[in-house]
Amino acid sequence: MARILVREETLDPSYLPPRLVHREKEIEITSKRFREALAKGLPYHLMLTGGVGSGKTALARRVGADLARAGRTGGFPVHVAYVNCWRRASDRTVMLDLLRSVDVSLPDRGYSLSEMLDVFEQGIRKNPRHLLVLLDEASSLVRQETKLVYLLSRSREVELGSISLVLIAIEDLLPYLDRASRSSFGVTHRLALAPYDRSALADVLAARAELALRPGSYDPDVLDQIARIAAPNGDARFALELLSGAAHLAEDDSADAISGEHVRRAKGSILPTVTETQIEALSTHELGVLLSLSRTLKGRSTSTSSQKLRANHAALLEELGAPAMSRTTFWRTLKELERDGLVTLETGASGESSQVAMDEMPASFLATLLEERIGRARPRKG
Ligand SMILES: Nc1ncnc2c1ncn2[C@@H]1O[C@H](COP(=O)(O)OP(=O)(O)OP(=O)(O)O)[C@@H](O)[C@H]1O
Ligand SMILES: [Mg+2]
Repeated sequence: MARILVREETLDPSYLPPRLVHREKEIEITSKRFREALAKGLPYHLMLTGGVGSGKTALARRVGADLARAGRTGGFPVHVAYVNCWRRASDRTVMLDLLRSVDVSLPDRGYSLSEMLDVFEQGIRKNPRHLLVLLDEASSLVRQETKLVYLLSRSREVELGSISLVLIAIEDLLPYLDRASRSSFGVTHRLALAPYDRSALADVLAARAELALRPGSYDPDVLDQIARIAAPNGDARFALELLSGAAHLAEDDSADAISGEHVRRAKGSILPTVTETQIEALSTHELGVLLSLSRTLKGRSTSTSSQKLRANHAALLEELGAPAMSRTTFWRTLKELERDGLVTLETGASGESSQVAMDEMPASFLATLLEERIGRARPRKG
């Protein structure tokens, strides 16, 4: 069977995509502000915030890489120094990384911050360029009494050379900054990324799938299914993890394409989902509807129409020798399942008909579980 992940490395978290769909405007504005300042020989500072997986890191690295590639601006080439501060939450440890980025190194011990800054300045002077410092996951650094943010945002006054500073964090960092630093991050120096909505996530997935996967190995339905799962948090990282997980499962199955079932299984392995205890707590009505849904969704499909589900459910009841269910009870049961977070309902344009989806767990697994339970509950004949 042909591979699905034909360029797997492009789904790796370290891969920086050439384009960031739905962030074109933000990239354009930010790049322009940098270019305009640098052309005048001035630095430009930015505080970049947004939720988990909203594309902060990707956006900052993209803007940095584009500026560096553009060559000299205002007389100097741009050099990007990226530091993830998550595990280096002190001025000195961040400084060690910054020293490395200007090709000087100091042993880890025994130097004060000001000594390190002197060496840093020499490093910049030795090879004059405009330094774009990206401090990612800056929250913990800034929540401590950092002097580095002040020093880097006032590099000219403190004679450090030409440095632009980008602070990246989930939360707004202004409340933690001293007054002098705060003034560097006025309104035109702040960018808050909104979470991606479902259709934006589907577009992000499509752009990344086009890079990484064999054409024909995924269809828009599957991408939309993943987008629907990731939409509540607007998290592109989670969406891409699901895509990659589902693609791997499909390859393991020697399948020709990724199916809705692969996505559900991938989700199950990333997040703890429905437990058997929850299944135990379901009413007989709920069990029956859920079982017909899992049977209907087995295989490729990601969602089904409520009419089709109702017909399959009626057939199941007949098979079990159970009394038929009224339309009202059927709907109430679906609504209950929706409230329990087990299914997703989407009302179609016609009002009456809905699309029913179940992303919580693999349909095949659920079907087995439910069949067992219903089998146990079923009165023996004869
Ligand atoms: N618009 C986009 N187009 C293509 N890929 C994107 C886009 N936005 C984000 N991604 C990808 O989604 C993943 C998550 O993005 P990123 O790491 O930039 O999020 P983040 O906001 O920094 O999240 P965190 O707060 O968890 O660090 C990355 O693999 C990134 O390449
Ligand atoms: Mg990040």
